[in-house]
Amino acid sequence: MKNSAPASLVPVGTRVPPRWRKEVERVLITEQQIARRIHAMSRDIERDFRGRETVVVSLLNGTVMFLADLIRHLSLPLRLDFIGVSSYGAGTESGELVFTKELRLDMRGRDVLLVDDILDTGRTLSRVIPKLRALKPRRIKMVVLLDKPERRVEKVEADYVGFTIPNVFVVGYGLDYAEKYRNLPFVGVLKPEIYQR
Ligand code: IMP
Ligand code: MG
Repeated sequence: MKNSAPASLVPVGTRVPPRWRKEVERVLITEQQIARRIHAMSRDIERDFRGRETVVVSLLNGTVMFLADLIRHLSLPLRLDFIGVSSYGAGTESGELVFTKELRLDMRGRDVLLVDDILDTGRTLSRVIPKLRALKPRRIKMVVLLDKPERRVEKVEADYVGFTIPNVFVVGYGLDYAEKYRNLPFVGVLKPEIYQR
């Protein structure tokens, strides 16, 4: 089931907070829009998971805020595990992938909810999914906050998508550029001069 909301126009008059105005061009998704959407997604997930024993597998580090906000709305018997995937280099392209933290929990026969911040080329998730499948879960469902379908290289789609966004480089709400900007409470478009330097 494909289920996503387009990144709709932010309310008229929404401005980048002064502290970030030098680096962030505009707010793409506000804190309030994110909160409302996550609440709706959590209801969809709860309905599909029907109270089954669930393992939530979250990709480090970009999912921190999304994960925290999502799981507090999930009334499911769930366990939490993390997998670390990192791409070399600090650019805007995902390069060579290395696993920096392996899974710890037993997934056999469980329902797995795989959580990622953004589905871009799909290279990351297409490497992670076979690793999870090898652990014999009952099924794997994937949730991402953001989806950039224009950039897709691998054949991978999420079951739950927060917002479908255009091909722009975004930061905030967990997403980084060179490990910065994860702490912004909104999703913003980074000024190109920041990553073109
Ligand atoms: P993929 O492997 O190309 O699908 O990329 C997935 C990863 O690249 C995400 O988990 C992010 O860490 C990173 N990424 C992709 N697009 C963006 C973006 O616009 N801003 C910040 N990080 C991004
Ligand atoms: Mg990242």
